[in-house]
Amino acid sequence: MTANTARPAAAAGTTALGDLTVNRLGFGAMRVCGADIWGEPRDRVVTRQVLRRAYELGHTFFDTADSYGPHVSETLIAEALYPYPKDLVIGTKGGLVRPSPKEWVACGRPDHLRRALDGSLKRLKLERIDLYQLHAPDPYVAFAESMTTLADMQRAGKIRHIGISNVTVKQLNEARSIAPIVSVQNQYNIENRADEDVLLACEQAGIAFIPWYPLGAGKALRAASVKRIAARLRVTPAQVALAWLLARSPVMLPIPGTASLRHLAENAAAAEIRLLEADVAELS
Ligand SMILES: NC(=O)c1ccc[n+]([C@@H]2O[C@H](COP(=O)([O-])OP(=O)(O)OC[C@H]3O[C@@H](n4cnc5c(N)ncnc54)[C@H](OP(=O)(O)O)[C@@H]3O)[C@@H](O)[C@H]2O)c1
Repeated sequence: MTANTARPAAAAGTTALGDLTVNRLGFGAMRVCGADIWGEPRDRVVTRQVLRRAYELGHTFFDTADSYGPHVSETLIAEALYPYPKDLVIGTKGGLVRPSPKEWVACGRPDHLRRALDGSLKRLKLERIDLYQLHAPDPYVAFAESMTTLADMQRAGKIRHIGISNVTVKQLNEARSIAPIVSVQNQYNIENRADEDVLLACEQAGIAFIPWYPLGAGKALRAASVKRIAARLRVTPAQVALAWLLARSPVMLPIPGTASLRHLAENAAAAEIRLLEADVAELS
C-alpha cells in the first residue's frame, strides 16, 4: 500500500493558497505547546525535532497561531526551521486571546489585530506572513471591521494572503467582498460534517478548505466504520480518517496535529493511501 517515499505527505498532491503551492496534507502546530495548549512543551528538543521532521516528511504547509502557547508554537517553529526552506508556507492566525489556560476569547478589534500581526512577524522572523487568518469572528466587533483591518495590513505589505476561520458561508461571502480570501479553516472531520455548506462554498470559489480537528482530536479514530476499514486495509484509524478527508474534496487541506514523532510519520503516510469507492461509501 505505501510507497515508503522520503516525503510521503507529498503523495497527497498539491493545492493552491493564492499564488503559493503546498502539499495537500499540512501540519497543525498547535499541539507542540504544553498541556491545554498553554506554556512550553515538556521537551523542547523533541518538539523541535517534530517540527523539523514534519517538513522533512513533506508537510509544506504549517498552521499555527499567536494564541497557541500563547506565542510558544510560533517561537518554536522559528527555532526549529528558520531560515525557512523555500517551499515551506507558514499560516498563522490572530484574533483570539488567552486570559488563562482554559479560555479562548475572540478579539477582532483593529488595534489588537495590528499588534497581533506585528508580534507574529517578530516571533516568526518574517517581514510578511504568507497566510494570515482571522482566527474567529468577534461577536462584539463588526466582522467587516476586522476584515478591513486585515485588508489594510495586506496593502501595507505585511500579509501575502488572507484566510478566515470559524466562519459561516455568509461571513465568507462578506469577507470576499472586502478582500481576496484564499482559505477557510473550520472544524470538519469524518465524525463532524456540520460545515458541509462551507466546504461546498470553498469548492465553488476555488479556495482551500482547511479542516481543523481532522482527527476529531482523537474521536474520529474510534468510529466503528473507520476501525473496520483500517483493519481491512492494514493501516491505522488515523490514516483512514485522513485519507477520507483527502478523498472528500480536491480543496481539502488537512492539518493533523501531533507532538509525537511516531504519530507524525503515521499521519504523513496517510497521503499514500487510496481508498476504494466502496470504502468511501462505507464511511459516508
Ligand atoms: N482554527 C481553529 O479554531 C482551530 C481549532 C483547533 C485546531 N486548529 C488547528 O488544527 C490543527 C489540528 O487540530 P488538533 O491538533 O487539535 O486535532 P487533531 O489533529 O484532530 O488531533 C490531534 C490529537 O490526536 C492525536 N493524534 C495525532 N495523530 C495521531 C495518530 N496517528 N494516532 C492517534 N492519535 C493521534 C494527538 O495526540 P499526540 O500528540 O499524542 O499525537 C492529538 O491529541 C491544530 O494543530 C491547529 O493548527 C485550529
